[in-house]
Amino acid sequence: MKFTIIPFLLFSVLGALAAPTPMPDDVPRDLVHLEARSCGAKMSQADAAAKLKANGITTSSSGGCSTKSNASCTSLSQICTNTVNTVITLKKAAGLKSLIITGGTEVGHASGTNSHSNGHKVDLRHSTGLDKYIHSTFKKIATRSDGAIQFKAASGNIYADEGSHWDVTIF
Ligand SMILES: *[C@@H]1O[C@H](CO)[C@@H](O)[C@H](O)[C@H]1NC(C)=O
Repeated sequence: MKFTIIPFLLFSVLGALAAPTPMPDDVPRDLVHLEARSCGAKMSQADAAAKLKANGITTSSSGGCSTKSNASCTSLSQICTNTVNTVITLKKAAGLKSLIITGGTEVGHASGTNSHSNGHKVDLRHSTGLDKYIHSTFKKIATRSDGAIQFKAASGNIYADEGSHWDVTIF
């Protein structure tokens, strides 16, 4: 009996010791932001769409739909509040009349912490004004491994030109 209980207890104690400790509130943001950055609350499709629309930003998709589980749709379901706010700030800063999101949280994109499905990325349709703003305001950084030219904002957000659209990572 004791030969089965002792290893079990040992594993429990080791497991508890290995459990991740919560991040203290006073850790500098720059350190935290190497891992999970500030997403803020996740938003519903309806809330995100309404907030963006009120700021002149719309979505477009080949399927004309917003279902997160369908790759032909452009979904805003579970998008980070910080992502929505950043897109609004970008449109204002660039002085754009309109801005179109062609990819959101829907399936069909690469996975990862700062991914589309996790609410950290949007695809933005090219426009003369948007392109000019990104080129002149953000810093050109190393080309991505797939050949996409990349620009980095002071905030750390990355704008990768995928040819048909900007793939934007908002940390
Ligand atoms: C995805 O959406 C498109 C456009 O609405 C639709 O034609 C298609 O059937 C959907 N696919 C699935 C798997 O639901």
